[in-house]
Amino acid sequence: MLKVVRNRKVRVGVLGAGAWARFAHLPGFARDPRCELVAIADVVPERATEAAAEFRIPHAYASHEELIARADIDVVDVCTPSATHFALAMAALEAGKHVLCEKPVAYDFRETRRAAALARENGLRTKLGFTFRYSPAMQYMKRLIDDGFVGTPFIFNGYEQNSQWIDPSTPLRQADHTADQSVLQVSSLEGYGAPIMDLGHLFMGSRFQQVVGTMKNFIPERVVRATGTMMRMNIDDGDIFIGEFASGAIGSIQTSFVTVGNYPGLEARVYGSKGALICRLVEENGICESLKGATKDQVEFRDIEVTASYYPPGGSSRESWRSLFYANLVSSFITEITDDSVPGAGDFDDGAHVQELINAVERSFRERRWVSIPLGT
Ligand SMILES: NC(=O)c1ccc[n+]([C@@H]2O[C@H](COP(=O)([O-])OP(=O)(O)OC[C@H]3O[C@@H](n4cnc5c(N)ncnc54)[C@H](O)[C@@H]3O)[C@@H](O)[C@H]2O)c1
Repeated sequence: MLKVVRNRKVRVGVLGAGAWARFAHLPGFARDPRCELVAIADVVPERATEAAAEFRIPHAYASHEELIARADIDVVDVCTPSATHFALAMAALEAGKHVLCEKPVAYDFRETRRAAALARENGLRTKLGFTFRYSPAMQYMKRLIDDGFVGTPFIFNGYEQNSQWIDPSTPLRQADHTADQSVLQVSSLEGYGAPIMDLGHLFMGSRFQQVVGTMKNFIPERVVRATGTMMRMNIDDGDIFIGEFASGAIGSIQTSFVTVGNYPGLEARVYGSKGALICRLVEENGICESLKGATKDQVEFRDIEVTASYYPPGGSSRESWRSLFYANLVSSFITEITDDSVPGAGDFDDGAHVQELINAVERSFRERRWVSIPLGT
């Protein structure tokens, strides 16, 4: 049975007080009156105490153990470097906490699936940091697809790309500098690919079943944050794959850290039997999202205004995408924890399917062939 929180605020503990926690997660929790931030932990203790002061969090810790051990915490939010997610999420689930985790939960989809199963056994909700699923424009696009605007979906095109790391002197993080640099490491496909793959599954109402793809390292040497030096980093900083959905639809996804353009750099296109929708999440001229649509009878794409109810209180397309989208993500998770009639969405099960897709595209690249999903256990 689901552990529901009723008649009181949901109590939250956050692991990691780095950039993303401060720009997105903490403002999101601070904005939802149905929850309260109780504790924060960071292995660099000053970061935890600084964030605690800024967001008025009563308890700051230097380790995750102390935070997870608190009996009064309902939700653990894992916002630490990617390699630590799985161990921290499992520790929190074992302790009976609902878990929000940044992507990826684990690099291998089988581990993500294991975490999802543990959550189910313990009656706990999970949510992944699929930030862009919660953009008001993307949510409205999903609503229009469900209402039949595009008819039967035929083709999905997805992008997450920007020029965050086009300059080799921008310190690279979330990549293993100790890995064998003679082998290309999955990087953009996972870091940038996961959210747009998730949107592809969501919009098409179906998942990729066959894929073929390629990955490329364009910038051979970069400064790495962990070492502070310029070094060979054989990471995928650009990739493309095509695939077939179980429904019979087809799709393509392209991601890159080194393609000129602004943050966050997502575009999702769905073309169907009656119409087409294109949502862009690219901060331009102070606006972070736009939605356009066309129909068979009116083929010129026109702007579609997103209904106000899709924005969090006080939010608009002129707000920073980081806090705007995360406010909706947090709100969705708090609703799921306080109301057992609401189905979970964007949870570890969805994350396991996305991870399996990442693992399949990687296999396709390494073996130079089409790969079928499921990959097997
Ligand atoms: N969903 C998105 O759109 C999005 C955007 C940016 C970052 N992210 C993800 O968010 C995560 C955090 O990114 P970031 O940019 O804030 O990184 P960061 O390095 O700035 O911050 C991570 C923090 O975690 C702390 N930490 C490390 N191990 C810890 C542990 N065991 N317990 C507690 N704290 C620990 C570090 O000291 C650091 O302060 C990453 O996985 C990243 O990929 C997601």
